[in-house]
Amino acid sequence: MTRAFPQNFLFGAATAAYQIEGAAFEDGRTASIWDAFCRVPGAVIGGDDGDVACDHYHRHPQDVALMKDLGLQTYRFSTSWSRVRPDGGAVNAKGVDFYERLVDELLANDILPWLTLYHWDMPQALQDVGGWTNRDTVSRFLEYAGTMHDALGDRVNVWTTLNEPWCSSFLSYTGGEHAPGHTSVAEGLLSAHHLLLAHGETVRELRGRDASLNLGITLNHTVADPADPTNPADVDAARRVDGQFNRWFLDPIYRGEYPADIVEDIRVVDAEAVARFDEAVHDGDLATIAQRIDTQGVNYYHGDLLAGAAPEHAAVESVPDTERAVRSPYPSFEGIHAVERGLPRTAQNWEVQPEGLTRLLQRIWSEYAEPAGVALSLTENGAAYDDVAVIADGETRVHDDDRTEFLRLHLAAVLDAVDAGVDVRGYFYWSLFDNFEWAWGYDKRFGIVRVDYDTQQRSVKDSGREYARIIAARAL
Ligand code: BG6
Repeated sequence: MTRAFPQNFLFGAATAAYQIEGAAFEDGRTASIWDAFCRVPGAVIGGDDGDVACDHYHRHPQDVALMKDLGLQTYRFSTSWSRVRPDGGAVNAKGVDFYERLVDELLANDILPWLTLYHWDMPQALQDVGGWTNRDTVSRFLEYAGTMHDALGDRVNVWTTLNEPWCSSFLSYTGGEHAPGHTSVAEGLLSAHHLLLAHGETVRELRGRDASLNLGITLNHTVADPADPTNPADVDAARRVDGQFNRWFLDPIYRGEYPADIVEDIRVVDAEAVARFDEAVHDGDLATIAQRIDTQGVNYYHGDLLAGAAPEHAAVESVPDTERAVRSPYPSFEGIHAVERGLPRTAQNWEVQPEGLTRLLQRIWSEYAEPAGVALSLTENGAAYDDVAVIADGETRVHDDDRTEFLRLHLAAVLDAVDAGVDVRGYFYWSLFDNFEWAWGYDKRFGIVRVDYDTQQRSVKDSGREYARIIAARAL
């Protein structure tokens, strides 16, 4: 059976500045928190860093040509704050130029630029004065957003303020797994609030400059299911994961409020942190955060099956084998256990759970997006597998059937949501290229295009060829 995608549905792929650009200290760019974090012993597998990455900074014309060959209609990328405003200070013309060239290249190839302002790489100089825990950072971010809009506002219509603020707050300031690698509940709460405030202020500013812009934010989500829906402890574990991961961001953005049940859960474990958080939330902040948006980006990798108590269940997170001290990114984590349900797994041990994506999209749509008139796009979905490169007829091939299957299953899950009435406007595979996967370094390959890090040779994998066929047919 052939299943067609809606007329207005866009096919794309996603990347992020630090993960692919390289040229980390060229043309005036200064250190970001990831440049610094990569140098902390044990922070990143293999001691890897983004100094060279996919060298996209120097290879963007060829890379855009490759996107064109694949038939991508849109390309989701992020701009680097420390390239554009090094140290969070004055504008660096050379940094701005790079993004002008990239956007012009995309437009010349009929590829819609889908720009994300923040994909985790804050200037280290701003982290030195508190980073996202410092309210002043919101003003610095607004200056940076304004610079990007000054340069590209005439050519870029789709603006995403933040990618996955859960990661740049709780995973980074509470869990310690990402830069800056702190393990404080209070810092996680403060940084999440200031990130959301930066989002709201930016939407207000850009909307004021140009009412025709398509403005939004990308959130990462899970589908938290109780192992036994009749067991109150399991139901409660699922509620707490959903609340700390999904609702902590959805509720303020769509409803102008933080989830009260979760605030109380966190108060039980760290009353002092919640007191600091309460002080950080000023009058009017929530109204700013709840600015009307046009698009919500949904990033989905897998769901969670949860139990409240059971010694045989594993702790909830799958973290890379880091030598550093990390803790749960959930402020309230006691009594949350992951349950094995026998699903296939990726090379990162992440479950492959496409049906969760359909339910997730339906839930966000009916509870949040539809009442607010917001369209959804799947801005990230993808999988790492242990690819094997083979040479055939002088060409490098990767027969990544597992990734091809992953892609097809998730595209079908998106179509199931569309059939159920959800307004999903696009799909971006994560990622276009194998790249620097944060704490996992170059150890994990997500790309539909293989990158040989010794030669910087790009080779379209079988999954990429299949994606190109699907895009051409606009059907599964
Ligand atoms: C998403 C991020 O959370 O997951 C991407 O937005 C990231 O930047 C992707 O690369 C995969 O996760 P990881 O931890 O393997 O890099």
